[in-house]
Amino acid sequence: MAYQTMRGFYDILPDKTEAWLQMESLIRTMCTLYDYAEIRTPIVEDTKVFKRENDSSDMVNKEMYSFTMGKDNYTLRPEGTAGVIRSFVEHKFYGSMELPAKLYYIGPMFRHERPQKGRQRQFNQFGVENIGLMSPLADAECIALGYSILKAFGLKSIKVLINTLGDDESRANYRAALKEHFAAHLDDLCEDCRRRYEQNPLRILDCKVDHEKACVQEAPKLLDYLNEDSRQYFEQVLKMLETLGIPYEIDDKLVRGLDYYTHTVFEVVSLHEDSGSQSTIFGGGRYDHLVEYFGGPSLSGVGFAIGLERLMMLIEAEGHPLSEEKSLDVYVMSLQGCQAKALELATILRSHGYKCEANLQPRSMKSQFKTVDRKKARYMIVAGEDEIANNSYTIKDLTTKQEYPTTMEEMVTVLDGLIEGEEI
Ligand code: HAM
Repeated sequence: MAYQTMRGFYDILPDKTEAWLQMESLIRTMCTLYDYAEIRTPIVEDTKVFKRENDSSDMVNKEMYSFTMGKDNYTLRPEGTAGVIRSFVEHKFYGSMELPAKLYYIGPMFRHERPQKGRQRQFNQFGVENIGLMSPLADAECIALGYSILKAFGLKSIKVLINTLGDDESRANYRAALKEHFAAHLDDLCEDCRRRYEQNPLRILDCKVDHEKACVQEAPKLLDYLNEDSRQYFEQVLKMLETLGIPYEIDDKLVRGLDYYTHTVFEVVSLHEDSGSQSTIFGGGRYDHLVEYFGGPSLSGVGFAIGLERLMMLIEAEGHPLSEEKSLDVYVMSLQGCQAKALELATILRSHGYKCEANLQPRSMKSQFKTVDRKKARYMIVAGEDEIANNSYTIKDLTTKQEYPTTMEEMVTVLDGLIEGEEI
């Protein structure tokens, strides 16, 4: 029987991991510049962490990988925010940390969605949460971080979409208006939207099935139901984005697929043809009630998450090329019976920072030379009986074909000298 990854799951193979490491490394550097610290929460949480009372999102109702073991109900995390806030409250960071707490995470998420290009069932997200500062400036700073990361990778065809869901009062008014509007169109709506009508009519605006229908297109606009505070809050976010030089487009239908958002919501989409129908690179927004939900004080947060597979696809399509894996510095060949010495030499070189491989098998010199070529080694050393007996080795520069005699003890100094000479 042939084993394969399951639909929607995939391997990241060794020829890609170097690019992934570089992508993650640049993300970490950018987070450090914005003074975010990394947090690592479990991949599995109590289902209640994600399934909050009366949640109307597809992610929670249809897409979670949940299972029961004994009395406990577990869920593979479908997103990072809930776990981070659970941890923030559990460890009482609101008392011990300077607020806002600025946390970031990178790791796998799981959603049982229909797989297609740019949409997996296991995917990786990088996300940030800024918790404890209710300010339009924090929203703008958050968007600026995400935007500058995409720019740092050289992405050009990107667009920031932004909207506001307003405060609780504005949303309650809007909800009432939507209910009134859709009451006359319930028969036109899909089954899910009829459920959404009862639970959270805002979700109807986000429906992939009903999106184009006239009753959705003609629905009241949230911007018309904002109270003065919410309107001013949104205006200040926009003004700050302008000051920071971040172009945006207001999208009054943007409500986001998760239930916890309040005030600002945003997405960054790619306009590049390779992104296909899954063009959203990152999404996020403000949440006023999550910290309280987990039993903490009344603190608001704002954050976003980037889908790393989508980001990688776009970097490959239009970004700065990520450099290739570094080739070998030294290959240590060995004649029959001398493999142990080859390993000893390689270990010394590695301990001095040289990327090194040694032949540890009984192989012909011809096949070892092939490995030297394949691995694009810069230098080569041979460990044979004579070399070992006389403690006399030769470092061969495989580019210039020059040879340099050395002993085991002096090998690192000689190599250091050669490399230094190259750098001049
Ligand atoms: P989200 O919009 O559900 O937000 O996901 C963020 C990003 O993850 C998406 O824009 C997309 O790039 C990627 N993504 C989502 N689902 C998939 C999938 N099935 N396959 C590949 N990539 C996917 C959140 O998860 C929120 N927690 C963001 C947030 C943080 N809001 C506040 N703080």
